[in-house]
Amino acid sequence: MAIKALRGMKDILPPLSYKYLAFIQKASAIAQNYTFEYIEPPLLEETQLFKRSVGESSDIVGKEMYQFIDKGGNDVCLRPEGTAGVVRSFIEHKLDRQGGVHRFYYYGSMFRYERPQKGRFRQFHQFGVESFGEASVYEDAAIILLAKEILDSFDIKYTLAINSIGCPACLPTYKKELVSFLTKHKDICEDCKRRKDTNPIRVLDCKNATCQEIYNEAPKLLEHLCESCQRDFTKLQEILKAENVEFVIDERLVRGLDYYTKTAFEFISSELGAQNAIAGGGRYDNLVEFLGGRPTPAVGFAIGVERILDLIEITQHREGFYLGSMLDEAIDKVFHLALQKRKSAKLYVEYKAKSLKAHLKAADKHDAKYACIIGEDELQNGTIWIKDLEAKKEWHASIQEFLEF
Ligand code: HAM
Repeated sequence: MAIKALRGMKDILPPLSYKYLAFIQKASAIAQNYTFEYIEPPLLEETQLFKRSVGESSDIVGKEMYQFIDKGGNDVCLRPEGTAGVVRSFIEHKLDRQGGVHRFYYYGSMFRYERPQKGRFRQFHQFGVESFGEASVYEDAAIILLAKEILDSFDIKYTLAINSIGCPACLPTYKKELVSFLTKHKDICEDCKRRKDTNPIRVLDCKNATCQEIYNEAPKLLEHLCESCQRDFTKLQEILKAENVEFVIDERLVRGLDYYTKTAFEFISSELGAQNAIAGGGRYDNLVEFLGGRPTPAVGFAIGVERILDLIEITQHREGFYLGSMLDEAIDKVFHLALQKRKSAKLYVEYKAKSLKAHLKAADKHDAKYACIIGEDELQNGTIWIKDLEAKKEWHASIQEFLEF
């Protein structure tokens, strides 16, 4: 039986791969304008890294890790997300000791053993950014604006939801109140009962309708913020409003990863069905220290590339040249010319002699803008026949003109 790709893993073939590349190129260019630099951590890391950062209580670590023991007996894991690896690298290369601001962007495969469905895969791609060393809430705003600029550049429609999930100064008090509320409500789902003991604020984004009804009465996170969290959250809203950014405050937005503090945000699309988050991120001021580095404030986000590709249209234009001949004896010349022309342009070369009609059909199939053919006359005169397949114009050119054209 033919071997197929694993469940939840997809090939990215043309024309989808064109969209993928176009997205990565545009997103990278925008991130670079915001002074983010490219980083590429490994796909495989020690399992401990994710357990300690993403958190044992998260679904990602609890249920979805591609974890195994390698031949050296090491407990390793394919990265389920990008932040943990970037933080590990940041600390390992002692950038935390340099001080100052360090900004990185990355893209590539992430792996989560989830139940595959529309927009949810076991291998998927993220484009992410992580900024270290800047505690100012202007950085949170800049990061949100950067994500927005990327999405806007592809005309993607979304809702931006923001929240503040507090910090070690205020979150513990809130958690206590929430736990005492949850203890009084025996009819919450089994998952929430478990979350009550591991990471109680995660109950707030439970998908169960009964739970959601119950949590209408739960203590409100935003009413428990300390002065610093409150000040930053208010300032963030002011900055976004001043930049004419529309947003909603979603006080149940707590994110599925345990490392967040203060700002949390998501971009949601109404065009995607159940898996509607196209990007998510927030601040994680304690993670660098928690993983053994010097205390360093940090903030970032990741965009789910597959979900974006579902939303964007890129019209493919005719591009480049198609080069062929009607004579077997001209193929050497055609091959040599192709190599020269390829130094400056995209060119498809046909190695078989064919009729003009067959060449034009093939040039059309390959989406070439120009069909360039050498027939008997052209071979004798040292010229080439060129047809612009878009403008429907044709002419003869010398070989030199063709190479310079
Ligand atoms: P996340 O919310 O887990 O955050 O993932 C970010 C985005 O990746 C989601 O909004 C979604 O578009 C996409 N995504 C997640 N899981 C899947 C899946 N199974 N299939 C397809 N797409 C998926 C993080 O990963 C954080 N590291 C983001 C971050 C960076 N926070 C701070 N810095």
